[in-house]
Amino acid sequence: MKLNNATPINDHSAQRSLCLEPPEDTAAQAGLMEEIRDLARVRRAVILAHNYQTGPVQDVAHHVGDSLALALEAQKADADQIVFAGVHFMAEAAKVLNPGKRVFLPHRGAGCSLADSISAESLEDWKTRYPGHTVVTYINSSAEVKALSDICCTSANAISVVRSLPGTKVLFTPDKNLGRWVQKHVPEKEVVVYDGACPSHDVLRGVNVKKTLLSYPGAVVIAHPECREDILEMADEICSTAAMVHKVALYPQTKTFLVATESGILHQMKKAWPDREFIMADGCIGCRLHCPYMKMITLEDVRRSLLEEVFEVEVDPQTAQGARLALERMMAVPRD
Ligand code: 13P
Repeated sequence: MKLNNATPINDHSAQRSLCLEPPEDTAAQAGLMEEIRDLARVRRAVILAHNYQTGPVQDVAHHVGDSLALALEAQKADADQIVFAGVHFMAEAAKVLNPGKRVFLPHRGAGCSLADSISAESLEDWKTRYPGHTVVTYINSSAEVKALSDICCTSANAISVVRSLPGTKVLFTPDKNLGRWVQKHVPEKEVVVYDGACPSHDVLRGVNVKKTLLSYPGAVVIAHPECREDILEMADEICSTAAMVHKVALYPQTKTFLVATESGILHQMKKAWPDREFIMADGCIGCRLHCPYMKMITLEDVRRSLLEEVFEVEVDPQTAQGARLALERMMAVPRD
């Protein structure tokens, strides 16, 4: 459908047709997926894909999940190689957690604006301004930043991690929305938040979600904690991407769910719950809630990664040691 000035703003079908969606599962695509599976067998490679990847890339992976689940998969992988269909910090964390394996990121450009919002130098500076604080760093960060942190967290365990700390003063980096949400749930701690945010989540405003809700009265709102406070206040569920798929089970009577996170998660939600309807909370599949980095990796990139052994992720051993400590401390925290 063509969108023109006469198209009503709340015509979500028109808005959805504007968005880039992965191509249909054609015979050529099925052939490519088969080739990738064969190559992975020959190379003894395991393919990990984050929930924000395109549908075909998720479907060809051995494991699909959120940051925590994929870090755990990487840590225990006994394949010779890990091909990480995600963004750079995820592949880097896999290398840190399982240094004996060769780890590949299929697209060299797949970075993360949130991870780039804090450098080792800025964290060093920040630490000197807040002596006596425990540094909790979101997994969306570089290995250098992790190595300067006391403990890591993901969206799946951030509350448990902060609650588990012995001291009361916490520096939370780099996501301010996640940090503020944690502070609300752990009022006994004093959480100072760094000024970083994920542009793909931070762009969404409460007014966008309210407008979308007008078209779907009674819909349940599920939001990622990287969203701004006004979205989180109106959300029925706030959780990591993997938990979003499971939370649907809590609403057996609900047909429609508004999802406030990157559009890739809809693939797993629709697969798990074919009788339900999942709508992006901005009323538009992928218009705002779209991470350009997560969508860089194509099936062709995954094939090339396996064939040509590109792009290998390396982490300097000393940095890796510090980052591993912060990640392993996180993994030792029991989840609430
Ligand atoms: P989870 O993987 O924890 O759901 O978070 C999404 C994310 O921010 C990935 O960058």
